[in-house]
Amino acid sequence: MGGHVIVWILLSVCSWRISAAQAQQPPRTDPVEVAALEAILGRWNKTNSPVWSMSGEPCRGVPVDGVTGLDGNPKNNPGIKCDCSYINGTVCHITQLKVYALNVVGQIPAELQNLTYLNYLDLDQNYLSGPIPSFIGQLTALTELHVGFNALSGPIPKELGNLTNLNLLGISLTNFTGQLPEELGNLTKLQRLYTDSAGLSGPFPSTFSKLKNLKLLRASDNDFTGKIPDYIGSLTNLEDL
Ligand SMILES: *[C@@H]1O[C@H](CO)[C@@H](O)[C@H](O)[C@H]1NC(C)=O
Ligand SMILES: *[C@@H]1O[C@H](CO)[C@@H](O)[C@H](O)[C@H]1NC(C)=O
Ligand SMILES: *[C@@H]1O[C@H](CO)[C@@H](O)[C@H](O)[C@H]1NC(C)=O
Ligand SMILES: *[C@@H]1O[C@H](CO)[C@@H](O)[C@H](O)[C@H]1NC(C)=O
Ligand SMILES: *[C@@H]1O[C@H](CO)[C@@H](O)[C@H](O)[C@H]1NC(C)=O
Ligand SMILES: *[C@@H]1O[C@H](CO)[C@@H](O)[C@H](O)[C@H]1NC(C)=O
Repeated sequence: MGGHVIVWILLSVCSWRISAAQAQQPPRTDPVEVAALEAILGRWNKTNSPVWSMSGEPCRGVPVDGVTGLDGNPKNNPGIKCDCSYINGTVCHITQLKVYALNVVGQIPAELQNLTYLNYLDLDQNYLSGPIPSFIGQLTALTELHVGFNALSGPIPKELGNLTNLNLLGISLTNFTGQLPEELGNLTKLQRLYTDSAGLSGPFPSTFSKLKNLKLLRASDNDFTGKIPDYIGSLTNLEDL
């Protein structure tokens, strides 16, 4: 009897300690996203960061320091930001990714489609080639997409029109071909569109009449036919043509 009580007390103390330890555990990043991040940066030979750990748990320290945006710390490049408020603060998702001007050579890797919580993606100023993959249309949380100053080529995928939360799209100084897809008219939150020197041709789609929030449009040095129609944005919102 007495022995049972002692065992029971020991067991309760142990399980209390275990659950207390579990409660104190820091949040963990979704393993699917950890694997995707590792694969993407591995393909680009960017496997080290001075401010977060690529082997193990990435969402510690600078990526969760409460500073909004990746520009707060220049060392956070390759950089990420995470949101660890999921499932009562036990799970982190990677919400921002920056690989800016790091001489990256290669394509936009397929693993990117698993970073489904991304709201900000900056791959500007590298040597990326090949197309913008059509799976980009699944990353519907994106509010900013920067892929300019790269050797990207091929047509602009119509799936980009799926990213209805975008307020910035930057594809300047690239090597695309063809027209701007009419689906981009669905990006009604778009405020800034950088398409200068992007290799594009043809007319502006008439669907751009829906881009009522457009404040800035850069379109020079392409083979666009006709003039930029004055239905784009409201003229008062267009600051920079
Ligand atoms: C979050 O915490 C609250 C209060 O502790 C609890 O009632 C709820 O079930 C938890 N939710 C999840 C998804 O774990
Ligand atoms: C990555 O590094 C390896 C070994 O240093 C090299 O062979 C490869 O070309 C590099 N890849 C890229 C995309 O830079
Ligand atoms: C995305 O994650 C799933 C689950 O881990 C995995 O099976 C799949 O291969 C990943 N997709 C890509 C393109 O890496
Ligand atoms: C468009 O977005 C929805 C989610 O909003 C997604 O289910 C669908 O696969 C996306 N389509 C394309 C073509 O990317
Ligand atoms: C752009 O594409 C053309 C033809 O496809 C190619 O000749 C040229 O080298 C490319 N330029 C860059 C900067 O990739
Ligand atoms: C987006 O635009 C295209 C062409 O302008 C249209 O056919 C399509 O239905 C639109 N999609 C959504 C989800 O609004």
